[in-house]
Amino acid sequence: MKTLRTALLCLLATGCTYYENEPVKAPVPEKSDPTTTLEAKYVTEAPNKVTSKYWKTADYLPLTEQNQVTGQVQAADGLFNMSGTFGGLTSFGKGKDPDVRLQAAYTDDSLYVLVVWKDTTADASHSNWIYDGPTDPNKAGSTSGWTSQRASDNFLLSFDMGSGKRDVWNWSLALSEPMGYAIDMIDNGSGATNDAGTVMYVRNAVSDNRGGPQYEWNDAQQQLTRKPAGSTILDPGYFLLNKKTFTGDIVAGEAYYQLECAPCHGPTGNGEGTPSGYETGIRVNEPGQFNRWTRAALDEFGPGPNHEGSVHYPAGETDRVNLFARLRAFSGIPGYYLQNPSGSSADIHAVSSVVIANIPHYNSKKYTVLLVRALNTSQTDDITLNPATVTYSFNFSVRDNDLINQVGSNNQTLTFKPKP
Ligand code: HEC
Repeated sequence: MKTLRTALLCLLATGCTYYENEPVKAPVPEKSDPTTTLEAKYVTEAPNKVTSKYWKTADYLPLTEQNQVTGQVQAADGLFNMSGTFGGLTSFGKGKDPDVRLQAAYTDDSLYVLVVWKDTTADASHSNWIYDGPTDPNKAGSTSGWTSQRASDNFLLSFDMGSGKRDVWNWSLALSEPMGYAIDMIDNGSGATNDAGTVMYVRNAVSDNRGGPQYEWNDAQQQLTRKPAGSTILDPGYFLLNKKTFTGDIVAGEAYYQLECAPCHGPTGNGEGTPSGYETGIRVNEPGQFNRWTRAALDEFGPGPNHEGSVHYPAGETDRVNLFARLRAFSGIPGYYLQNPSGSSADIHAVSSVVIANIPHYNSKKYTVLLVRALNTSQTDDITLNPATVTYSFNFSVRDNDLINQVGSNNQTLTFKPKP
């Protein structure tokens, strides 16, 4: 078993020869000072990496976050355990101060905003498909059968466009970061909606939030080139780009699992088998786990000499397909699939410190995200930023594993410093 797991990881790791971003070091205190507005200085060399030299010395705006809209759960049926910021600051990052710091710069054509905040966990899911999943402490309702669970870490930076309109830039670890963007939205006063063009995420569902996934990973390495981040690989545990139609009879797969696998791996996949004494402690319900296994790898390992449960692994193709579906439904099949955005939905480029190729190995306690946008996109759903106007008002909020509840700081100011 050990050998296989190592081989699998190596396979992933060798694919991951290129990590575009090293985690950034803390700003040097004597050079980088706090300011009362977000100051964008004019630069001739674009600071288009999170490690660019400019950010090490640029002054920063520290934010004091307030609770915003806390205590909410997703209203739609079938969505569970998506309220990680339910208690606001007391639940965000397990109660750790997010300590948000913003830095900015501009060139002749673009604005650069670097956002740094603390969060103890990387939540890279959005409505993952789980079969017979856990219940939700904050929301009533049955979670048997298919449900859509878990949310993403994300933040919102929104600029006042005047006339009651806001240009909303929503960075999401699950939905936008893998493709190298932030979600571009506009709020006309009645809630934010996506800008025109093709959006980078699409719901992966056959019907509603209890209907199950339409697609799953097709085993092909998910390699892509992002601007300005460069070449990367997307972790299939969390991100779905290369896909095929989801197959398998989940009910039959679950029945097979309970009969043949649960005695050692536990009825819920947590490694606690029955009767007691049989438990292996080997979990098969880790988030992302079986989204990374290929069918071929499981067919080799399952009945192989390195698996204590080898005689229990099915011989027939139908049982194997059904069982594989069941295992992936423990891991949480991505609730959205990804595609290249276009038009006004492709205006805000993003680069981050997240190792997008291998989410479980990303256990940094801090996010660093760089947003890049043209000062003038010539789109009616975007704010035009003119350095001669000098100041713009913005709101900032950040969410931990949540899409509604957030902690934030409103009515902050972006100041364009004059060109030297
Ligand atoms: C008799 C106990 C037993 C049974 C029954 C059993 N397993 Fe296992 N399984 C183990 C043990 C123990 C390991 C750890 C490797 C080893 O020592 O065999 C393991 C490891 C695994 C792993 C590797 C997990 C990982 O990611 O590291 C998978 C996958 C797996 N089992 C699938 C299954 C499936 C599917 C079934 C049902 C068809 C099953 N097992 C039945 C005992 C069992």
